[in-house]
Amino acid sequence: MELILLLFVVCGLLITAADGNTLVKVESYSDVVLPCSLSSKENIESKLFDWKKDGHIEVFMYDGGLIYGNGLSGQDKQFEGRVSHFGDELKNGNASIKITKAKVSDSGIYSCDFPRLQPRQTFNIQLVVSACRTPSAKPIEASDDRSVLQCVVGGASPRPKVEWRDSSGQILPAEETEVPGKENSVNIILKTTVTKTGIYSCVVTQEGICHQAIDEVTVHITGPEKTPGIPYGWIVTVGVLAVALFASFVAVCYFKNKLEGRTAVPQGEH
Ligand SMILES: *[C@@H]1O[C@H](CO)[C@@H](O)[C@H](O)[C@H]1NC(C)=O
Repeated sequence: MELILLLFVVCGLLITAADGNTLVKVESYSDVVLPCSLSSKENIESKLFDWKKDGHIEVFMYDGGLIYGNGLSGQDKQFEGRVSHFGDELKNGNASIKITKAKVSDSGIYSCDFPRLQPRQTFNIQLVVSACRTPSAKPIEASDDRSVLQCVVGGASPRPKVEWRDSSGQILPAEETEVPGKENSVNIILKTTVTKTGIYSCVVTQEGICHQAIDEVTVHITGPEKTPGIPYGWIVTVGVLAVALFASFVAVCYFKNKLEGRTAVPQGEH
């Protein structure tokens, strides 16, 4: 099953590479320029160009000086007030646009189309907007001999790989829970149980422009450390018990003697 998925992923990458889409990657909340230029560099100030996302979502249109929100209507709500063109670049055949505060949901295939040019020209640009996230790690349960560690990565996109590692870098067996987040992102909760004192790291790896991010937890397992202390405790306990036992023995003997002495006296008077 995984192999088939892997093959699909590999095929997907090859297709993307083969059809020559320009790939643009940014982190969410940053501004992004989607490039589109005619190789002829002809002046397009009086021409029409139309930007769509995923084949049907209206992103931006320019028609001889009119644009969406200023003479033209039909722009998708998702892009209202967030898209602009470069007026000074039009005379060089440059129809690039800028999207402000890119969101994960802006990810997709954009087309920049000159429908009235002869021959008609269309350019495809793939935009990937990543929500890079850092992990948050802490112990959630602790007893003398074990500790349960939890790592949370919220609202990440693309789907991150989350791992618990020990101080030698060894990946620990862990239980993963995935909860869908806003805008195609995921929340991941990863739990592991450790039985040794040490420093444990939760490592998040996201493909694309995100850097690897780490959070650490220091664990003290008290159970095994107590072991050398136990004989000492035993000696004290046994000592105290022995003293108490000896004291009560002496006391019992003393009172017994006194009692016997008293009863012996009247007997002796007869
Ligand atoms: C088109 O204009 C944008 C914005 O000024 C610029 O970043 C880009 O490099 C230009 N493209 C070309 C091919 O000159």
